[in-house]
Amino acid sequence: MQKLEVFGANKLKGEINISGSKNASLPILAASLLSSKKIYLKNLPKVKDIETMINLLKSLGSKIKFEKKILIIDNSSQNKKFASYNLVKTMRAGILVLGPLLAKFGNAKVSLPGGCAIGTRPVNIHLKALSKLGVKYKIVQGYVHANAPKGLIGSKIRFSKISVGATENLIIASCFAKGKTILSNCAIEPEIKDLVSFLKKMGCKIEWIKKRSIKIIGVNHTNEISYSVMFDRIEAGTYLVAAAVTEGNLKVKNIKPSVIKTETEILKKIGSKIIIKKKEIQIIGKKKIKGMRIKTAPYPGFPTDLQAQIMVLLCKANINSQIKEDIFENRFMHVAELNRMGAQISIKGNQASIKGNTIFKSAELMATDLRASVSLILAALAADGKSIINRIYHLDRGYENLEKKLKKVGARIKRIY
Ligand code: UD1
Repeated sequence: MQKLEVFGANKLKGEINISGSKNASLPILAASLLSSKKIYLKNLPKVKDIETMINLLKSLGSKIKFEKKILIIDNSSQNKKFASYNLVKTMRAGILVLGPLLAKFGNAKVSLPGGCAIGTRPVNIHLKALSKLGVKYKIVQGYVHANAPKGLIGSKIRFSKISVGATENLIIASCFAKGKTILSNCAIEPEIKDLVSFLKKMGCKIEWIKKRSIKIIGVNHTNEISYSVMFDRIEAGTYLVAAAVTEGNLKVKNIKPSVIKTETEILKKIGSKIIIKKKEIQIIGKKKIKGMRIKTAPYPGFPTDLQAQIMVLLCKANINSQIKEDIFENRFMHVAELNRMGAQISIKGNQASIKGNTIFKSAELMATDLRASVSLILAALAADGKSIINRIYHLDRGYENLEKKLKKVGARIKRIY
């Protein structure tokens, strides 16, 4: 099994180009199922989850090829409606094909994604909302068998809880539903805005009518389009924290700084110097780090996907800090490993109390999920000596060229095969 070896305590210095967003690419790829015209997608990140989604689309009959870094999708003869457990089990976003398949064919059989390290992660909100569009479903042996006897019919749906995936599934499905759909209490993550821009370019009629409400008028055909996916804001945030934690000086490029304002404001409060330009953020990490209280929340709140990374930085603060994880019930898997590196973090329910003034010590570590894995790398970058991180396949799901990008800015990191 592949491992990463990190020799820490180097200050990161230089420039990092941020890749396309994994979490925007996944729903956009699923939404491509609606179209029978060619779609040209640019700026997709080369990560495992995208490969899995492409394989899932291929298993559904999509014709897909890469030409000069552009993904060309041809769904004109796509005709299968079965998403197998093998492809959905490793990646929850597989459930996002349910909405478009139902919109296109009126029936589909899609595997339930199952739990994962960060919590139970059910899909009840997706299913309940789809049933309001006229979908009948039953769960048989881990599969959702769904059909809409009269086709999807527009409706008024209020999500009981803000869910990124459910909002995406319903936006995509409603694009082909008869008449008008109003979705409220929607997630408004930038990746959802990107999905909406993609769908609108394809010819779908979508309009934001309030901060968390969206109006969709069903259409029955789409246009051939070319679309460039937005930058990965979590990757950008991860490298900003990497610079802060190593007291480095990094320029994070190819981004839209206004999208990650919450994160940069927090980094400023913690004590980093932040210089914002049109498409880049420069961060200069300081020795003195101020402790604080952070809670994760749906966008525009602080992202749960950066919780593990910011925790590493708070371990080095001059006073104690607190993090409240309000999105996932079990997202502190990194804590035990960070404590093995000298951190003093205690957990009570969904709250982590973090003792400051940690001097990280190198260790052999075990990664548990995507963001937990990267937090261990950040701690290893801050520690003196050699750390080894096992189970790095989690990282490959979501970070493009992580070692290459870190090496370029002075990290001593290598993959062991
Ligand atoms: C997406 C992101 C993930 C991020 C998360 C929260 C992708 C591919 N993944 O995941 O990186 O951490 O948003 O920002 O974009 N829930 C239910 N029932 C449902 C759906 C969700 O109870 O049917 C709960 C979840 O367990 C969780 C909360 O709602 O506690 C938010 O989950 P959701 O926003 O749906 O996350 P994902 O779309 O799975």
